[in-house]
Amino acid sequence: MRLQLAFVLAVAAVAASARVPPPRGPQREPLIKKTYKDQDHLDVMGHMRASKSAKNRNAVEGLGYWNQQMQAELQDQLAKSPIVKQAKNIIFFLGDGTSISTLTAARLLKGHLTGNDEHEVMAYEKFPYSSLIKTYSADKIVTDSAASATAYLTGAKGNQATIGVDANVLLSDCDAMNNPSYHTPSVLKNFQDAGKSTGIVTVTRVTHASPAGNYAHTAERHWENDDDINDVEGDPEKCDDIAEQLVYGATGSQIKVILGGGRKKFTPKGVDDPEGGDGGKRDDGKNLIQTWIDQKQVLGNASYVWHREDLLALDTANTDYLMGLFDWSHMSFAIDEDTSNPSLEEMTRAAIEVLQRDDNGFFLFVEGGNIDKAHHLNEHRSALQEALEFEKAIALADSMTDPEETLIIVTADHSQPLVINGYPERGTDVRDLGDFSDVDGLPFTTLMYTNGPGYRGEPHGERPDPSAENYYDPHYMGAATVPMIESHHAGEEVILYARGPHAHLFTGIHENAYIPHALRYAACVGDGLHFCPTEA
Ligand SMILES: *[C@@H]1O[C@H](CO)[C@@H](O)[C@H](O)[C@H]1NC(C)=O
Ligand SMILES: [Zn+2]
Repeated sequence: MRLQLAFVLAVAAVAASARVPPPRGPQREPLIKKTYKDQDHLDVMGHMRASKSAKNRNAVEGLGYWNQQMQAELQDQLAKSPIVKQAKNIIFFLGDGTSISTLTAARLLKGHLTGNDEHEVMAYEKFPYSSLIKTYSADKIVTDSAASATAYLTGAKGNQATIGVDANVLLSDCDAMNNPSYHTPSVLKNFQDAGKSTGIVTVTRVTHASPAGNYAHTAERHWENDDDINDVEGDPEKCDDIAEQLVYGATGSQIKVILGGGRKKFTPKGVDDPEGGDGGKRDDGKNLIQTWIDQKQVLGNASYVWHREDLLALDTANTDYLMGLFDWSHMSFAIDEDTSNPSLEEMTRAAIEVLQRDDNGFFLFVEGGNIDKAHHLNEHRSALQEALEFEKAIALADSMTDPEETLIIVTADHSQPLVINGYPERGTDVRDLGDFSDVDGLPFTTLMYTNGPGYRGEPHGERPDPSAENYYDPHYMGAATVPMIESHHAGEEVILYARGPHAHLFTGIHENAYIPHALRYAACVGDGLHFCPTEA
């Protein structure tokens, strides 16, 4: 009944609006030239805002509108030309768990907040080149962040939960992990070997899987400190934990900028945390933060900070080495507004300012790591907030660097099971309810997960056991979160955006392991083909 009524109303609305002259003309520029930041107060919690009528909008966006818009889009496409130069700098933006559905939803949310709605354009969408990226690992169709980091940072696929080692190293195999012939060198290391500066920025622990892909070689992503190895009766004397590899390792110890969370992996048990957390977690009594300070102070101007205000007050023009560990563990979700934490954008600014001092060039890895963390909790509002923070950092890096010399890529390590589904009206908030079930008549949210803690089972919480079903049946119906006679559409894919020298190497579809090979070519570092024909 409800649907029929809605249909009648929709037809009436279209008929009525067809006679109304278009209230807004075609435009390339946003109607409201405010950033979404200016409007954050409007509805960060996503309450339904008085939206423009979708039907009215359809009338506005007639043939004339689309002709003009799409001709302009065609002109933009025709104007693209590759920048065939050596990439002096590379900034690698990694949105952890940032599926295409996440990017789409983030765009819809930002557009909702700016008033541009579906016409919003994200900073990375202005990049001229993009490519699809295949993410399977050496042993799994669906990868984790560790194996993916090995591939997209070093150029070879590894096994699930291993980092910086090739597929010869099985999970937790300490002996194999210590075999240097299985170690996969990262592009970050290639930059170091070429005498350039390097940095890592994340909102997770700096020893977490994605950032660790830049500097660690380990058979187990969870071996972030020695206590993690002792817990599984491993030998931390034999197999160095990731924090130790960051501070003492051949690659880790040369990183000039390290910003993120994870103090507990660096400090010993019994040492209090400055923000009152659970204190240090190391068994070996080492304070690796102090070690880092001692090491770097003799090399140049070195700063360790753990509070946003200290980062913002930093004299980056005179900083050679910078470590900032802003949380005991992962940094807080942006949606929780922890004032002791800098934003990803603020950390990215500090990192670029320090690294740009090197005339030889730099490699910077920036991870929007909490997008994935929020998705794991099925908290899509938080995930989208993180995705908007990620975009701000990308926009900043874009504005701070010259496309003639800095290659910026933006990609994800793997998808998350988030779908944008149902038929929500144009101009509505993607975080809201958007459509109705045609079985029970109940509404459902536009954003949903196919798995995770958000599952709502039958009233008594019992989920039918699929192994008791004939899942080989050609007409077997896969489990769904909402009962529907026929599904309403959903979409999914994984993408890489690129701008700068040799960004055009990223078109079509590629393996995640291809990425470092293309980066090395563009920057003329490491092994393999180089753009620069001969080097001394
Ligand atoms: C270190 O910082 C001081 C100012 O705090 C500055 O005078 C000096 O030049 C810096 N050294 C280097 C090597 O940048
Ligand atoms: Zn994850």
